[in-house]
Amino acid sequence: MRDHAFSFSFPWLAVLFANLGLIATPTAADTPPGPFAMEWSTTNFGPDGPWHAVQVYIGTPQQPISLYPGGTLRSHFLTPQICSNKTLSPGSCYATVGGLYNSNSSSTAFINSKFSAFTDFSHGGLRVRGPAGIGALDDIRIGQGAVPNATIAIHNDVESIYPGGATQALQVGTLGLGYLGTGQLQSFTGTASALSGNVIPGYLKAMNITSSNSFGLHIGSVRPKIPSSLYFGGYDQNRICGNVSSQQGPFANIDGDVPSGFIDLLDISINVIDGSSPWNTSSINGILTSGNSSVGSSLSVVMLPEAPYLNLPKSTCDAIIAWLPVTYQPNIGLYTWNIDDPQYLKIVSSASALSFAFRKDQLNSQNITINVPFSLLNLTLEAPLSKNPIPYFPCNAQSYGKYSLGRAFLQAAFIGANWNANNNQGTWWLAQAPGPNIPSQSSAKTILDQDSAISASDNDWAASWKGAWTALANTPTQGPVDLSSGILATEAVDEEDNGISTPVKGGIGAGVGICALVGVGAAFFFIKRRRRSAAAAATIAAKLEVESLPPPVPSKNNDKQLAEIYGNPLYEVQGCYYNERFRPAESHDRPQTPICELAEGRAKQPVYELR
Ligand SMILES: *[C@@H]1O[C@H](CO)[C@@H](O)[C@H](O)[C@H]1NC(C)=O
Ligand SMILES: *[C@@H]1O[C@H](CO)[C@@H](O)[C@H](O)[C@H]1NC(C)=O
Ligand SMILES: *[C@@H]1O[C@H](CO)[C@@H](O)[C@H](O)[C@H]1NC(C)=O
Ligand SMILES: *[C@@H]1O[C@H](CO)[C@@H](O)[C@H](O)[C@H]1NC(C)=O
Ligand SMILES: *[C@@H]1O[C@H](CO)[C@@H](O)[C@H](O)[C@H]1NC(C)=O
Ligand SMILES: *[C@@H]1O[C@H](CO)[C@@H](O)[C@H](O)[C@H]1NC(C)=O
Repeated sequence: MRDHAFSFSFPWLAVLFANLGLIATPTAADTPPGPFAMEWSTTNFGPDGPWHAVQVYIGTPQQPISLYPGGTLRSHFLTPQICSNKTLSPGSCYATVGGLYNSNSSSTAFINSKFSAFTDFSHGGLRVRGPAGIGALDDIRIGQGAVPNATIAIHNDVESIYPGGATQALQVGTLGLGYLGTGQLQSFTGTASALSGNVIPGYLKAMNITSSNSFGLHIGSVRPKIPSSLYFGGYDQNRICGNVSSQQGPFANIDGDVPSGFIDLLDISINVIDGSSPWNTSSINGILTSGNSSVGSSLSVVMLPEAPYLNLPKSTCDAIIAWLPVTYQPNIGLYTWNIDDPQYLKIVSSASALSFAFRKDQLNSQNITINVPFSLLNLTLEAPLSKNPIPYFPCNAQSYGKYSLGRAFLQAAFIGANWNANNNQGTWWLAQAPGPNIPSQSSAKTILDQDSAISASDNDWAASWKGAWTALANTPTQGPVDLSSGILATEAVDEEDNGISTPVKGGIGAGVGICALVGVGAAFFFIKRRRRSAAAAATIAAKLEVESLPPPVPSKNNDKQLAEIYGNPLYEVQGCYYNERFRPAESHDRPQTPICELAEGRAKQPVYELR
């Protein structure tokens, strides 16, 4: 067996993966050891999630820390220094939520400041700045086991930069998912003595705790609730629906080395899985290359569980959002959902998905589609990115040419790898993961040392979303209907009811007001009453025919903020305000969003604010 030797671009550091076959103690046992389950934190994390994270306990005595599973080799930890740095943490220190690692208070910590790590442990998924991470070793307890001298990197001052120039301290570190070779990392620092540490899945294999240097991961989702799953040496078969695509080569490369783990993204489309379409067409294809001939026939992307967004060309984000009620926020380079637009609730609760077609098995004759239901793309920006929580759509148009699919995508996808398969060159897998309706018992399967194939469950993907999404009812049979004008199909229009109708079925609209002009043929609109108390939660919507509306009158409301946002003059109809462009009686094309709810004389609009 060969050793794998790599060189970093640092002249003073070379890394060698020693073959640990010698220290493994293969037994003659008939049953190979089964998969090793990781423990997940009961807390979830932002500020662009919510996201699940795994729970580990590092050092002696043990310090509990939550980490996003992702990246190779080392696990990356944030230190308490990130909180004492007033530039990085001016007010609150958000990084405390996941736990900070203080190597000074661990008797088993071994620091080698010369053995530095890359700063950017998001691997280009965010724009990260700061000094290099410090190489270290410490004992980590994971799940029902422990890894002594695990190879880690610690970060004191690391921050992500947003397009508007704002910076934000990173909040959660990462748990390395392994690498080629069999688990031990040795570094040579010139003539200094070697430091050797363990890489988690390789160590588990070397100790015969698992059967292979491999992992199977589905990060799941916080809202809607899809529990997370991470195994070393195996995978939960229930997390795989339909075909599996296998790629040869490492799932990802080590920090700073030539990137690998690419897969060709062939197209992005919008599809309706069940019920009628929230759009004026049943599906939308050709989104990936839309409006940009230089994308070519495919785009090479990597999977980045260590990073949050869908990092795509701006042209692709633009082509997606042309179909969504979202607003670009240039300061953060992301899109916030227009929660008052009737299309918002309709889309994020409907049985429709953003679908990603990839080249399957590296063949030019096959493809595999991963559907990401829109409810998974109704994520939340929280402090410090936004003063108040706001729903956002995670397409990141500021990808700087580094295209990747982060946690937003991986909520809906299974990924796994066997680092030792394919003659120690690695094999990795991508498959559709299920929605919230998953069997409560996992079906953990073992991956053997040289296995290059894993198998899917018989679970039906669409069935896994039943009950979690609302298939839009068929359009009322009253002639051609332009769905883009925004009828909420959860409340089929009752022709005889010309006064009051109950909007939005239970749960879906909780906490979100609807106040918008919608239309079916001869346009109706619903006015949501102000929310006053819990008792008033049973919202009442008035349904009026546009023709019967009084002509708009210039508003007497002198609210400056309203005028700044919506323009001057404002028009008032039935207590709601419209701007010049969207005067209700003259609206023909898009659903309009009047402002009906005024709190303390101000429009209840989300306030976007970067610190
Ligand atoms: C961990 O590494 C240190 C430094 O190389 C070494 O002294 C110690 O014996 C190692 N501990 C274990 C349990 O291997
Ligand atoms: C605080 O963090 C910033 C940004 O990483 C860094 O430039 C600065 O040197 C740090 N200050 C201290 C006192 O560590
Ligand atoms: C078009 O695609 C190319 C190649 O992927 C990319 O470099 C460029 O930024 C894209 N243009 C826009 C406007 O997104
Ligand atoms: C369908 O909706 C899209 C996106 O809102 C819009 O650009 C397009 O003009 C509409 N097409 C028709 C035929 O109404
Ligand atoms: C995927 O494969 C199917 C069946 O061969 C084909 O109809 C479809 O066009 C392919 N999709 C893409 C995006 O290449
Ligand atoms: C969308 O996200 C917001 C939080 O940002 C949440 O309150 C709301 O319930 C979500 N809506 C749906 C339909 O998932």
